[in-house]
Amino acid sequence: MSNFTGESLRRKYLDFFKARGHKEIPSASLVPENDATTLFTGSGMQPLVPYLLGKEHPLGKRLTNSQKAFRSQDIEDVGDNRHTTFFEMLGNWSLGDYFKKEQLRWFFQFLVDEVGLDPKRIYVSVFAGDKRFNLAKDDASVKIWQELFAERKVEARVVNNPEEEGLAGGRIFFYPAKKNWWSRAGEPEKMPEGEPGGPDSEVFYDFGPKWRLHERSPWKDQPCHINCDCGRFLEIGNSVFMQYLKTEEGFKPLPKKNVDFGGGLERILAASQDQPDIFLTDLLKPIVDRVVELSGKPYEAKHQVPMRVIADHVRASVMLMADGVMPGNKEREYFVRRLLRRAIRFAHQLGIDQPFLDQLVPVVVKIYQGHYTDLADKVELIQAGVAEEEKKFRKALATGLKKLDSLKVIDAQAAFKLYESYGFPFELTAEIAAEKGFKLDKDEFEKLKKLHAQRSRTASAGKFKGGLADKDQTTVKFHTATHLLHAALRQVLGEKARQRGSHITRERLRFDFEFDRALTLDEIKQIEALVNEWIKADLPVHRQVLPKDEALKSGAIAFFGEKYPEMVSVYTIGKTTDDYVSKEFCGGPHVKHTGEIGGPLKIKKEKSSGAGVRRIYMGYA
Ligand code: SER
Repeated sequence: MSNFTGESLRRKYLDFFKARGHKEIPSASLVPENDATTLFTGSGMQPLVPYLLGKEHPLGKRLTNSQKAFRSQDIEDVGDNRHTTFFEMLGNWSLGDYFKKEQLRWFFQFLVDEVGLDPKRIYVSVFAGDKRFNLAKDDASVKIWQELFAERKVEARVVNNPEEEGLAGGRIFFYPAKKNWWSRAGEPEKMPEGEPGGPDSEVFYDFGPKWRLHERSPWKDQPCHINCDCGRFLEIGNSVFMQYLKTEEGFKPLPKKNVDFGGGLERILAASQDQPDIFLTDLLKPIVDRVVELSGKPYEAKHQVPMRVIADHVRASVMLMADGVMPGNKEREYFVRRLLRRAIRFAHQLGIDQPFLDQLVPVVVKIYQGHYTDLADKVELIQAGVAEEEKKFRKALATGLKKLDSLKVIDAQAAFKLYESYGFPFELTAEIAAEKGFKLDKDEFEKLKKLHAQRSRTASAGKFKGGLADKDQTTVKFHTATHLLHAALRQVLGEKARQRGSHITRERLRFDFEFDRALTLDEIKQIEALVNEWIKADLPVHRQVLPKDEALKSGAIAFFGEKYPEMVSVYTIGKTTDDYVSKEFCGGPHVKHTGEIGGPLKIKKEKSSGAGVRRIYMGYA
């Protein structure tokens, strides 16, 4: 058994790929930049899409990273031994360089020779093809896997239909597109035009038959297989052969065949310790330990669900807040609010009814600050943010309680109203209702919730589709305008006005920056005037790829406290790269001349966005 920690395993992986010609790149923010396709970075490939589509990467064709990821859709799954909303994805990338042979061999070698996994406990899946789209069965990967297992003297029988046949003594399993095809949008039929995707090959670790939690398996009446999600097998890595582009006429080959590999750091760590509960690995255990201390209850079966939920939700909130997403009511901000509120609700189940969230923040930061060096500086900001949110929620709970007290009848409708207006959790309402002799109908409540969610979803439908089309000129214009706004803010307010984040749609740009008070009307006018003056001057926009130190020396600002790679891309707006109004580390894209932005632009709103952070909305006047 190995003695890896999260930190040493991450390092081992990055170094393994660096030794094979890969350049290490830092994690991108959890908030996708200038990409309206999804609310959060949910996979390693997302920040690299332009390069997978064919753009040249300044660091070459082989990259490796550990990318922070947040999957909001997994929030309800948290509570078992392996699901989390936040996770780190180890990645290695071939941008039109190596392909299946090297990829499958390297990852297998990494697992067996570096991590020390027993090859007999490794199982793999491959793409069975899809006739509807004329996509071929991945026989090439099968052949490579057979060779790899043979070298280790492990039998590797191929199973064609595991969902019916079960394990059937196999090692290599064919699955259809719903399991072995990857794109941001999912299966081939769900992909919009212009989206890249490809067949993939997943690797699973076998914890042994005793971990089969039959009742959780959706196929509980059918035979167990590596993808049946019963708890015995854990998917630890996925090699995507990103080689197709969805077009009007179906799938076309991309200009280059790429590899997008993603492996869950926590999961590989769990496998390395033969420990199926990822909450007991050092990336999560210190948080669980603290919750044990706070509640005075042990981490045993009946307390595990709330403890895991709290550990996951607090960790995810800290990482999101570090990337500038403070709890609030809109889209992204709402997720942080929801995470924190859920954590408080589950803490109540453990008997923790005093404010506690801020005490967990330093525990999370300590786990991650070695690699994510920006975290240490943000502890106080994040603590203040969670404390404020907890205060608000506890107040809402108190109001909700009063409201509940005044009700003659408590039914599902009332529970839903309380939930909607005060964020009052159903479980709490049900508890209190029970004390008063009412039994609440959870199904009815869920129905009301679903109806409500459907209504709001209709409002945000088309986000994905619209998002891709959004890579149009308007968003590029707003992106350049973001740089101008940042420069104007610093000119008018001083250099402490630093960017915290931005978000662009076709209608407007939104910009968050550190500043401790509201702007005056006069300041707003001056900032607008500067931006519009620079647009009118039709300044050229230059892109340079420079060594990081040189870029910093030349005055370029790098506003995310994260580590940057050795070579960086810098955008300068001004007459020359020495005589400029703005110079920033940035991946682009941008307009060629500021005049293309048109205008005039106007600041539509300026407001607080959490402690010490202001938010500006800007759009066409
Ligand atoms: N894009 C793939 C995934 O997220 C592999 O990185 O699973």
